[in-house]
Amino acid sequence: MTDSATTTQRSLAERPLGRSGLKVTVASLGAGGLGNFFRRITNADAAGLVDTAWRAGIRYFDTAPFYGRGRSERRLGSYLGDHPREDFVLSTKVGRLMVPAPGGAQEDGIFYDPAPFDSVYDYSYDGVMRSHEMSLQRLGLSRIDVLLVHDIGVFLHGADATRQLNVFKNGGLKALEELRSSGAIRAYGLGVNEVAACLECLDYGNPDAFLLAGRFTLLEQDAVKPLLERCTKQGASIIVGGVFNSGILATGDTPDARYNYGPATKEVRQKVRQLQAVCERYEIPLSAAALQFPLSSPAVASVLLGAGTSSSLTRCMEGLRTEIPKDFWQDLVTEQLLAPEMMPS
Ligand SMILES: NC(=O)c1ccc[n+]([C@@H]2O[C@H](COP(=O)([O-])OP(=O)(O)OC[C@H]3O[C@@H](n4cnc5c(N)ncnc54)[C@H](OP(=O)(O)O)[C@@H]3O)[C@@H](O)[C@H]2O)c1
Repeated sequence: MTDSATTTQRSLAERPLGRSGLKVTVASLGAGGLGNFFRRITNADAAGLVDTAWRAGIRYFDTAPFYGRGRSERRLGSYLGDHPREDFVLSTKVGRLMVPAPGGAQEDGIFYDPAPFDSVYDYSYDGVMRSHEMSLQRLGLSRIDVLLVHDIGVFLHGADATRQLNVFKNGGLKALEELRSSGAIRAYGLGVNEVAACLECLDYGNPDAFLLAGRFTLLEQDAVKPLLERCTKQGASIIVGGVFNSGILATGDTPDARYNYGPATKEVRQKVRQLQAVCERYEIPLSAAALQFPLSSPAVASVLLGAGTSSSLTRCMEGLRTEIPKDFWQDLVTEQLLAPEMMPS
């Protein structure tokens, strides 16, 4: 990597998060796993996972009320509460309120065994303010640094997207501006799976950062190009989530490989096999290339590691330390697996 992702354990490189004044470690923990993402884990496993991240030098953590309907925030806050608040950066989401579900939460097939709360969309002024306060209570922490508007856009809301966006523009956005100008939070932005929502936000708001999941990976780069340019021009950062497109870029082509939350298609598996062939020639794990690729862009502040176990997380950290020669990226371009303008320099 150009700016070595790791120096020693406990001292990971940091990059500024937009113009917020915050600095985040180039590798961060995406706490979806703490909400039982596709796997039920115990509180002890959860604490072990965050501890592995902390010991590896990670000091930026991302969670959301929706992840396990509060489970992820509670587990993350429980661990982080034992550390000085100024030693880490924390983002969570707004846009969904968790309401008690006495009979048990509805299963969504993604977060297993959710806590007994249902999720209700609310992008209004009051919704954002309440969500912020409820997150503080679940986390048990004095401060949240970054609030990201969760899943606003067509990807999730389909035909209702315009109405939801108007609710946000006429309400929630003002709440975020107020929270930031009062110093209650340091930064705001979106946490989404689509580029268009981020580009739109750069027109109507003054965001610091976008958590963009699954759209800046070895399998997908076309849509992100205009966003990289706009972010660089407007001083906003991208936090890259879903670098493995839900798994296949870490596991490689296996029969149960997951791509964007579902089974991988034949076409995707074929492209992954081509990527794996180049990796094998250079003896580089596919996951290492997948992790380092988005960090080549100066608009990217951090890659969120979606590891759900300590062993996956440790492999990810090794992947970030793997030396990747320029010829490897050049071969991807030659084999038309990467557009020339996206080649890491
Ligand atoms: N709208 C949003 O704001 C949004 C959307 C999506 C994601 N995110 C954020 O991004 C984070 C990561 O996204 P993600 O979890 O969806 O996707 P991801 O990082 O692309 O993939 C996660 C999957 O990859 C596997 N994996 C990770 N490291 C591995 C390794 N070294 N070897 C083998 N398998 C490995 C994990 O399995 P194991 O569980 O076995 O480790 C997990 O199943 C989330 O936790 C969240 O913070 C945000």
